[in-house]
Amino acid sequence: MTQRVPILNLRAQYNQVGPAIEEAVLGVLRSGNYILGEHVTELEKEIAEISGAKYGIGVANGTDALVLAIWAMDIGPGDEVITTPFTFAATVEAIVLRGAKPVFVDIEPNSFNIDPRLIEKAITKKTKAILPVHLYGLPSDMDAIMEIANRHGLKVIEDNAQGIGATYKGKPTGSFGDVASTSFYPTKNLGACGDAGMLVTNNEETAKRLRRLRAHGMDRRYFHDELGVNSRLDELQAVALRVKVPYLKEWTKRRDGVARLYSSALKGCPGITLPMVTTDGRHATPQDLTHVWHQYTIRVHASNIKDPENAERENLIKALAEKGIGSMCYYPVPLHLQTAFKKLKYKKGDFPISETVAKEVLSLPIYPELNTDDIIYVAKTLTDIMAKTSTAVAVPVAIPTLLG
Ligand SMILES: Cc1ncc(COP(=O)(O)O)c(C=O)c1O
Repeated sequence: MTQRVPILNLRAQYNQVGPAIEEAVLGVLRSGNYILGEHVTELEKEIAEISGAKYGIGVANGTDALVLAIWAMDIGPGDEVITTPFTFAATVEAIVLRGAKPVFVDIEPNSFNIDPRLIEKAITKKTKAILPVHLYGLPSDMDAIMEIANRHGLKVIEDNAQGIGATYKGKPTGSFGDVASTSFYPTKNLGACGDAGMLVTNNEETAKRLRRLRAHGMDRRYFHDELGVNSRLDELQAVALRVKVPYLKEWTKRRDGVARLYSSALKGCPGITLPMVTTDGRHATPQDLTHVWHQYTIRVHASNIKDPENAERENLIKALAEKGIGSMCYYPVPLHLQTAFKKLKYKKGDFPISETVAKEVLSLPIYPELNTDDIIYVAKTLTDIMAKTSTAVAVPVAIPTLLG
C-alpha cells in the first residue's frame, strides 16, 4: 500500500529539479571530467559561503568528512574527544576510527543537543576536542561550547550533517569551530543523488591539509607528503548539488512552515511534547536560533516509565502506519549502549536524559513539498490516536532557564 504521507518523499523534490539535474548530469557525462573538477570547486565555494566559512573541501560522504576533520586536528590514539551519545553513529565512529576515545556528555532534554553545563566535568588532560552535533537541524549552544573550548585550549569540530543553513545568533552553523563537516546523503536538507560530503574551515592551513588527506596525502600528483585516503567528491554529485543549492533557502523556509503548522495543530495532543527551539541553558534564547527542521521530532511519553520499549511509541507508530502515515525513531538506542561501542565501557544509567529521550522520540514526515492538508491530516490523526490510547503519566519536562 502506498502511504498517504510517507516519512520521506525524494520524488517530490525530483519533480521540481529533475529536468535541470538531468541536463547538468548529461553535461558532466559528456565533458569527460568526472572527479574533483570545476563543479566540485564551485560547490566548495557555495557551501563555504552558506556555512560562513572561507574554505570548502568536498569529500565522498559525511562520515569521511568527520574522520578527516579529526585527522586534520592531529587527534588520534591517547586523545579524547567530548561528544553526545544521542546522535547518528557516524559521529562517534569517526572518533574511534582515528584511534581516539569518545567521551560522552549527556544532552539537554529540550534541544536534544549536548549540554554545555556538563562538558567541563568531562575534560581531562587527554581531551583534545569537543564535537557538538546540530541534531535535527537545531544549533547546539555554540557560545557556551566555544567559551569552554577556548578556556581549555580545545579544538571544536562541528558535525553539521543535519544543520546546514541553521544560524546561532545570526551566524551559520559550521562557522564556529576549527572545522565543520556536513553530509549530502540524499535525505539531508541538501541531498545529492548518492553519497557526498563537505568540510568547511576558516583556516587556510587546515583547508590545505584536508585537501591533501582526501587525496592520498598528495599536494602534487604522485608526491605523497603524508598518508591519506581516497575520499574525493565526484563531478556528478557536485553538479546535482549545485542545481539544488539555489533552492535551499526556500526549502528551509517551507520546512519551517511545516513545523509551525504541526506545532499549532498538535497543541492539544495529549501524551506528547512538541519540539522546542531552545538551548535550555542561559547562553541563547529562542530568538537567537534558527532551526532548519531536518527532523520534526516529538516525544511520546510512556505510561510506564520503566517500560524499556515504550509501548506507547510502538503502538503509535503502528496506528499511524495503518492510517498511511510514516514515522521514524532517530535514534532508538543511544550510542553508549550500542554493541559497537561496548569497549568504551559505559553502562545503562550513565546518560539518563539521552536514554529517556531515545525511548520517546518520534519524527514525523517533514519535507518542503508537504501540503497543508497532509500536515493537518497527520496532526489530526496523531491527536485522535493519542486521545484514545494515551494514559501517559505527566513526565516532568525540564523547563529551560533561558535567562539564568
Ligand atoms: C549527525 C550525522 N553525522 C554524520 C553523518 C554521516 O554522513 P554520511 O551518511 O554522509 O556518511 C550523518 C548522516 O547520515 C548524520 O546525520
